[in-house]
Formats: sequence, C-alpha cells, structure tokens
Amino acid sequence: MEQYLTRRAQLASNMNSGVAVIPTAPEQLRNRDAHYPYRFDSYFYYLTGFGEPEAVLVIVAASEKTPARHILFCRDKDVEREIWDGFRYGPLLARETFGFDETYAVAQLDDLLPRLFADQPVVYSTIGHDPAWERRIAGWINTVRAQSRSGVTAPHQISDYRTILDEMRLIKDAHELQTMRRAAGISAQAHCVAMQATKPGKFEYEIEAELLHVFRRHGAQAPAYTSIVAGGANACILHYIDNSAQLNAGDLLLIDAGCELDGYAADITRTFPVNGRYSPAQKDIYELVLAAQQAAIDQARPGNSWNDPHQAALNVLAQGFVDFGLCQGSVDAVLESEDYKRFYMHRTGHWLGMDVHDAGEYKQHGEWRTLQAGMTLTVEPGCYIRPAENVPQAFWNIGVRIEDDVLITSEGNEVLTAGVPKTVNEIEELMR
Ligand code: GLY
Ligand code: MN
Ligand code: MN
Repeated sequence: MEQYLTRRAQLASNMNSGVAVIPTAPEQLRNRDAHYPYRFDSYFYYLTGFGEPEAVLVIVAASEKTPARHILFCRDKDVEREIWDGFRYGPLLARETFGFDETYAVAQLDDLLPRLFADQPVVYSTIGHDPAWERRIAGWINTVRAQSRSGVTAPHQISDYRTILDEMRLIKDAHELQTMRRAAGISAQAHCVAMQATKPGKFEYEIEAELLHVFRRHGAQAPAYTSIVAGGANACILHYIDNSAQLNAGDLLLIDAGCELDGYAADITRTFPVNGRYSPAQKDIYELVLAAQQAAIDQARPGNSWNDPHQAALNVLAQGFVDFGLCQGSVDAVLESEDYKRFYMHRTGHWLGMDVHDAGEYKQHGEWRTLQAGMTLTVEPGCYIRPAENVPQAFWNIGVRIEDDVLITSEGNEVLTAGVPKTVNEIEELMR
C-alpha cells in the first residue's frame, strides 16, 4: 500500500489547500439486469488500490493547524449482499488494509461532505466529466453556503484534479513499471501464440480466442481494449473489431491486442502472413513500416520532443511511398502536402499506462513536450493501402502496423514488448 500513500501525499501537497473528491467508476448495465465486468476509475485506483464500486476518496490538504487527511467512503459490510455478490471490505477493514486515516460508509456522503467542505477555499473535482456527480458536488457546496449565517464559508473555486494527477501519472513509478512489464510480457506471449495458431481457413475470432486464453491464463483481468484481429483488407479499417472473417492464404493478418493486468495496459500490434510467408509486395511494405518504427524508437529518448519519433517515422515512410510509386514528387513535397496521409493517417503513438491512451498532455505552452525518463508510450507506425486507380495494384489491401510499448530511460529507452518477434525472418521462423 506504500505507493498509494505516497501518491496521495503528493496529490495533497500539489493541492496546496482545499478538498479533493475522487469517486470511482459506477457499475454499468449491459442489458436488462446483466452488468459489464466492473472496471474501477483509473484516477481513483491510482490513489487507493481499492477495486470495489461505490467508493469515493476524499483528500483534505494540510492546513497550518492540521495534517492532510486521507478519507475513504465505501460500501458497508452486508451479509445478504455478500452471499450474492461476494466479499466487501467495509469501512473498518478498508481502513486497516488500505492505510486511510478515516473511512465511512458511502451512505454518509451527504452528511459528511458539507462538513468537510466548510471553510475550504477549493474543491478539486472533475469539470465536465460526469454532470450528475458534479451536480452532487455543487449541492454539497450549496449546503455549506446555506449555513453562512452560522459563520462558515463555502468553497469559492472548483478545480479539476485531473490536471495534477495527469502529470503524476505521466511519470511511472517502480510499482507501475513492474506491473506494466508483466502486462507487456503476457501480451507478447499472446501474440506469439496467435502467430503459431494462424492458418488459412481459420476465422479471425479463433485467433482472438487464443489471445484471450493467454491473457486470462496468466491472470490478466481483461483485454485492455477490444482486440483487433484483421485479415486481408480488414487491416485497412483502423478500428476493425468484428473479428468475424475467414483467413485466406496470401493475406496478411494484423493483430492489435494487449491485456490489462492489475489496472495497467499493454498495447501491441504485429502484422504477419496467414500462410507463414510474406509475398514480395507484403515484404516491401512490411519492411518499410519496420524501418519507420525503428527510426521512431531511436528518437524515443530523454530530451527529445514528443514529436521527434513521429517525424522520424514520417520521413522513412514518405521516402518509401515515393520509392514504391504510392506518392508522386519529392519526399519533401509529400511531407509538406501531407499526401502521405492517404496511406498513413494516424500519429505514431500515445502515452500508455492505466488507460491504453493514457493520461498526460502532449503539448505544454503550445510546444510538444520533452520526453523524460519514466514516461511510457507506444511507437506504432503503419501503412494502409486501399484499392485506388493511382495506386500500384500489387499493394492493394495491404495493411501493416507494428506497435511496441516503450519506456523512456535515463540512457535512452527500453522496449517493454520485445518478447514478440518483428523481423520478417523471425516471424517466418516462428510460424514454421
Ligand atoms: N490499440 C489502440 C491503439 O493502438 O492506440
Ligand atoms: Mn496504441
Ligand atoms: Mn494498439
């Protein structure tokens, strides 16, 4: 629980003064009375390690007279409900187990929050995230204001705690990195199994099942996002998740999948031939994307700008698009006109952590931010060639993406997902 105490203390110290109220995510109905599997709110879990629904973290910043207070509101023990739904900590056990100063039943929020808000200048909440919840916060502020004749003052400012927490979440601590390495290792293994299981005639969902099997077999709770298992032309649909088509000899298979382990995501893409051998045209495009990815990874180091890996990938891709007759004119002209976007229309990566597209700003004061040790990001260039008149037919319907998870270190970087092969020879060898 040490890491959660440290993070709460850091939040409290960044708040300066005021009260932060951080609810976990609600349970979500799927249909009628069936729920989606529960997933906690990332900010809440980052600060608590507490995985139950119906819980709220309250942090009161230290004042001159009192130290900071870490308070958890959670579900009461309930023997009847526990028979149906399973164990609940309840306030008493939650307090001992998770290191809070105070814990209360969540039913006491309406009573206690106005008292905690009294004489506090700032409430840290979300702004524009959950209107119903934000109305409750406003209601508690109004309750304090209604008591002004008894001498209390109401908070006069609402600030978004995500601004503080996004910056904290951007730099991963040792505990987070340990979990992310495990999530990356399980996901890498799942991709290897998927490559070995792929054969002409199988269906995309059969390969998806192989991924899920490896994730769960190693204790990952879920895929971090819906797996993309896209054979042939489906690889050119960036968010293809039907995973329903049959796999054909001569096509490529693009798999973008990663597990979530203890709240942390992995995000890996590999693209390989259904029959185990790249055709010459597939190999041309594949090795171009691989060269772009390597150029981008080489730029992922401390002191470089967030945009340097993207620019490195673009330079390689634009040269290749000209060489292969996909784009016309000079490389500079292709970059300038953004003609490359016909084949490469997304950016080269994103922050990675508890959320697959993780928290953290990409620009500061209008400039791309500087990479720092402890940041984790994906590097994922691609090339997607739809049939078109002015495109050489040999390349039609080839879609390739290669994605790895990268930790910025003080010396450069570490590829967390290196456990899954990506050169043509390595992949063909594994598939043999
Ligand atoms: N799998 C989501 C992404 O690659 O960004
Ligand atoms: Mn990604
Ligand atoms: Mn991905």
